[in-house]
Amino acid sequence: MLQDIPTPTLREARACVLETERLTLRKPTLADVKAIARLANDRRIAENTRRLPHPYTQDDAIDFVRALGAGGRETVFLIENNHTPIGMVGIDWRKPDGIDWREETAAELGYWLGVDHWGQGFGTEAARAVIDYFFEEFDLDQLIAGARVVNPSSRNILEKCGFQWSGVELHRFEALGSSSPVDAFRLSRGVWASLKSWNSSKRRES
Ligand SMILES: CC(C)(COP(=O)(O)OP(=O)(O)OC[C@H]1O[C@@H](n2cnc3c(N)ncnc32)[C@H](O)[C@@H]1OP(=O)(O)O)[C@@H](O)C(=O)NCCC(=O)NCCS
Repeated sequence: MLQDIPTPTLREARACVLETERLTLRKPTLADVKAIARLANDRRIAENTRRLPHPYTQDDAIDFVRALGAGGRETVFLIENNHTPIGMVGIDWRKPDGIDWREETAAELGYWLGVDHWGQGFGTEAARAVIDYFFEEFDLDQLIAGARVVNPSSRNILEKCGFQWSGVELHRFEALGSSSPVDAFRLSRGVWASLKSWNSSKRRES
C-alpha cells in the first residue's frame, strides 16, 4: 500500500532513467518547462487527461516540475525521442477516486504525447516501459488506468499492454470543467508476468 512504500524508494524512482528501442524516459527538470508547455498546450490532450489545465502555460509547467522536486507523490518521466521531448508518462501514487487503499493495492498509470507525435506507437512503447518498471521495482500487485470512453487510442494502448476492463467510472477533468465517463482498467502482476513470459518465449522461437 502507498503508506508502505518507503520514501527512499520513491526518491530513487524519481532519479531513474528508462531506455526503450526508440525512447528515453527521464525525470523532467526546469530546463524542460518550455518544451513541456509547448507540447501540453493543446485541448486534445487536456480534455483526455484529468488534471492538465487548458490553456497550459510555462508557469503551469514550472509549478509541475517544482512539485515533483518537492517530493510530490508522482513518479513522472519525460519521454524523449532522438533527444527531443515528446510527452510524459508516469505513475500516480495518490489515492484515485473510488479506490480504497486499505483494500486495493494499486497505483495509476497516466500518459500523454504532443499531438505531432501521435500514431507512431510511442504511447504504447512508453507505457510498456513504465509498466515493466513498476512491476519490477515495486512490490505492488496491480496497476490501474483509465481512458475516457471517447478515447479509443488510449483504450487500445491499455488493452495491448494487458489491462483488463473493470467498469465505467465518472471522473472530473479539469480542462472540461466537468465530469466525464471513463473506462477503468486494471493490470495485475499475474497477467503482466504471463504476458512477459509469453512474449519472451515468442522472441526465442523467432
Ligand atoms: C493516447 C495517446 C498517448 C496515444 O499515443 P500514440 O502514440 O498515438 O498511441 P500508439 O500509436 O502507441 O497506439 C494507439 C493505438 O490506438 C489505435 N487507435 C488510434 N486511434 C484509434 C481510433 N480512433 N479507434 C481505434 N483505435 C485507434 C492505433 O491504431 C494504435 O493501435 P495499433 O498500434 O494497434 O495500431 C495520445 O493520443 C495522447 O496523448 N492523447 C491525449 C492524452 C491521453 O489521451 N492520455 C491517455 C489518458 S491517461
